[in-house]
Amino acid sequence: MMLYNNMDLTRETIIEDEKGKKMEALKVFTSSIGYLKNKLLTKCKNQTTDINESEITWVLTVPAIWDDKSRQFMREAAEKVPIYGEKLILALEPEAASFYCRHLPVQKDSDNSTYGVFKSGEKYMVVDAGGGTIDIIVHEVKGDGYVRELYKANGGDWGGTKVDSSFISLLADVVGKDVMETFKSDKKYDFLYLMRNFEIKKRTICPERSEKIIINIPISLSETFSKMNPGSNINEVTLNSKYGYQLTWTGNKVRIRMEAKLARTLFDANCKQIVDHLKDLFMQPVVKDVSSILLVGGFAESLMLQSAIRDAFKNKKVIIPAEADLAVLKGAVICGHEPEKISGRICRYTYGVDIVTEFDSTIHPNSKKFLRNNKEYCDDIFDIHVRVGQIVEVGEPQVRQTYVVTKPDQESIEFKIYTSNNKEPTYTTDEGCTYLGTLTIDMPDTSKGIDRGATVHMTFSGTEITVTAVDKDDPERAVTTKVDFLG
Ligand SMILES: Nc1ncnc2c1ncn2[C@@H]1O[C@H](COP(=O)(O)OP(=O)(O)OP(=O)(O)O)[C@@H](O)[C@H]1O
Ligand SMILES: [Mg+2]
Repeated sequence: MMLYNNMDLTRETIIEDEKGKKMEALKVFTSSIGYLKNKLLTKCKNQTTDINESEITWVLTVPAIWDDKSRQFMREAAEKVPIYGEKLILALEPEAASFYCRHLPVQKDSDNSTYGVFKSGEKYMVVDAGGGTIDIIVHEVKGDGYVRELYKANGGDWGGTKVDSSFISLLADVVGKDVMETFKSDKKYDFLYLMRNFEIKKRTICPERSEKIIINIPISLSETFSKMNPGSNINEVTLNSKYGYQLTWTGNKVRIRMEAKLARTLFDANCKQIVDHLKDLFMQPVVKDVSSILLVGGFAESLMLQSAIRDAFKNKKVIIPAEADLAVLKGAVICGHEPEKISGRICRYTYGVDIVTEFDSTIHPNSKKFLRNNKEYCDDIFDIHVRVGQIVEVGEPQVRQTYVVTKPDQESIEFKIYTSNNKEPTYTTDEGCTYLGTLTIDMPDTSKGIDRGATVHMTFSGTEITVTAVDKDDPERAVTTKVDFLG
């Protein structure tokens, strides 16, 4: 979750373990990816398949709601393993799930226009409900198995582990926050045991259930309670808590028995946030007529979430594929075997170049004015290339803008690339703007003086962005750079 919404993410970002020990996050990610890589290679070897490492394409999946920085961070972590650029595909998780579901065997229409569960022209929403995040995209099926994004990727951190936190809060309401925290830090192993037990029981909580839920609790929890509350009896304290008879200890304080109704409330906050968010989405004009919701991810297996969504969207078709928790994984494999079948994506940010223009006192503030060769210029103009919410064709160059030199003897032009959360940023210094990097094109031939320049365009290729500058008089002279989001 550290990579989600972390504006300050850099290659040096530090991550802490449970005990507060620090390490470079990049190292942790690299080690984890490396572990998986070795695991697979060993497995291949043990099964005496003669698969050569060079034959493997690796697909690393990331949430679609992650920003450019986090995606690049994952790619660099993989490159350090090493899994090199051309052998590595970054796939967006709900997109992978979308591809998987479109490969599910179904009857084809007589006109052969059905792909997977959806027909050509059909619009559907993919909700990937995981442990940490809920990740949402909206797709429209085009011809030839292509899909187009209809609305920018969105979601939030309302994944299945929030239910676990609700359970811990519930216990803390009874035994006290201080007891819970001491237990969690002093009895790490027992705490994990408790969470594993809860994980098993969590999967049995459903809307129809009437029998109580019994969860094994390590004895050390009630021991910690007694130590910190001498003279108090945990049974009495529980009975007097706001849960009353809904929660009772049994088996000499190693089990807790919870009314099914109370257990269901652990899902309330989560399900409400997800449903409210989806309701908001369906208010959007382009999403309004989306007829199906494809629910995937581990948390999609939860009958509580399934019924919350089915109840809230009675007029939509809610599709939950078998093995919903594996849809992303299987879809990722498909992504590795087939070229991307995304024809258009919705831009999640505005991208542009920092320029100077002639100063116009009717629109520009004085603070942006500067003099060069006795002429007034306005600094820090955000020259927009693509806007947030706009459709970009994947792999196609976007608008081409030409910029000229400002001095006759100038031997290079620097383009400072910026991004913004706003649709129409005016200056690169506006709130929400972030500097991404500089692209420099050499223009050593100064014979044409001021009549020189370069054309710049951006290309969005799946999960990366490249910027290209071409000398307007010499197409051979061109530079391209991948945008470096980690600065
Ligand atoms: N049958 C089930 N009932 C309820 N919850 C479930 C069930 N199966 C899995 N989960 C929950 O789903 C979550 C894990 O989902 P998943 O494996 O998709 O997560 P992830 O992909 O690792 O996380 P993220 O997508 O946030 O990166 C856990 O919170 C788990 O408790
Ligand atoms: Mg996931």
